[in-house]
Amino acid sequence: MAWTAKPSATQRIERRAEPYLTDALKQKWSQEILSKYATKHGALMPILHEIQHAHRHIPYQAMIEVAQFLEIKPADVLDTVTFYEEFTTEKVGECVIGICQSIACEVCGHQKLLDHVRRRLDLEPHETTDDGKFTLLTLECLGSCDTAPVALFNETLHENLTIEKVDALIDQAKAGKAKHA
Ligand code: FES
Repeated sequence: MAWTAKPSATQRIERRAEPYLTDALKQKWSQEILSKYATKHGALMPILHEIQHAHRHIPYQAMIEVAQFLEIKPADVLDTVTFYEEFTTEKVGECVIGICQSIACEVCGHQKLLDHVRRRLDLEPHETTDDGKFTLLTLECLGSCDTAPVALFNETLHENLTIEKVDALIDQAKAGKAKHA
């Protein structure tokens, strides 16, 4: 296996003039999120969820701002973002389709669903359509094995899926009716 080295030392961070963590947002999070945790570090996950939902990814500038806000190291924020599947450093589509590929869904035909979505949207797993509408993911067990095959469309779980049901969900998303996080 070839090891891929990340160019962390030379990576340029895109910056915008306006901070991601505005004063109003920090005040809101202090009241609504920080107050629930014994340490500031404890609020990292819910804050990252808020940023992911708002921007459909977690920009590097936002990670630095979060580190300053929570008084932790930027590396700790980056480690968390890159560890969990629900966080992305690249912008995902308006509708993220996550098809479960674990054993129960595999036995119940997840491959047919996956192949159908790949063909219909001309998309491979972990890619986003050029128009920014769809991202396709393959996910591990979503905890609903008794209703396999299942998939997430954004954060909504859909069970006992068939190609017809998947097509209807894609049509809804194209019409802008997919539920967002
Ligand atoms: S294997 Fe798909 S939900 Fe468990």
